[in-house]
Amino acid sequence: MRTDALLSRFGYCSRKEAPAWLKSGRVALDDGTAVSAARQNVDPARVLVDGRPVPFPNGLYAAFHKPLGCTCSHKEDGALIYDLLPPEWLRRNPPVNTVGRLDKETSGLILITDNGAFEHAMTSPRRHVPKVYEFTTSAPIPAEAVATCAAGTLLLNGEPTPCKPAELEITAACEGRLTLHEGRYHQVRRMLAAVGAPVVDLQRVEIGPLRLADLNLQPGEWRAFDPDIFSPQA
Ligand code: URA
Repeated sequence: MRTDALLSRFGYCSRKEAPAWLKSGRVALDDGTAVSAARQNVDPARVLVDGRPVPFPNGLYAAFHKPLGCTCSHKEDGALIYDLLPPEWLRRNPPVNTVGRLDKETSGLILITDNGAFEHAMTSPRRHVPKVYEFTTSAPIPAEAVATCAAGTLLLNGEPTPCKPAELEITAACEGRLTLHEGRYHQVRRMLAAVGAPVVDLQRVEIGPLRLADLNLQPGEWRAFDPDIFSPQA
């Protein structure tokens, strides 16, 4: 990557402003060498800006604990998940996005990245990264719902194909955990409503190998993760 492209890629300034940054001596390599605007093949991991390393030089991957009440959108009205992230993440080019979405009234684990290819791969229907949800319902969960969810025959309103088999665990009369291997619109709420137990409280607690409890994240907190943990051979 050229140095001027690098500065705009990581959100420090526009490409047009980059030469002035470079002239001012704010950008150097970790061995103290100054870098010119046109220098090719600069390794972002070796660049210091104002003496500090470039954050997430190999792409930004963070697990975030989404609080209730914010929307996973860049442009809707009201509280947005992006308002809760470090502002410099949004100045990156490309900026960060959530990997899939959680409803406004769902809390829990969501991945944030600036790598569009990773985001696509993770949301592709061919990729079966299991996601675990914990929920409370307003009516007791019928015991038969476990078999209904496992059967792969539950057809939701307006959907052409039934939901894939999902693992439902009833942990109390009105509480449970559901593991999904696909992601449809409002899927947990719609599946539980279809079996007669409307969801009143919903949290995503696991995405593949990442567990909210292990990450020890409070609502609004994030932690970097290694994307390789999601590679098929990991
Ligand atoms: N299923 C839902 O109903 N809502 C979510 O936010 C995620 C899965």
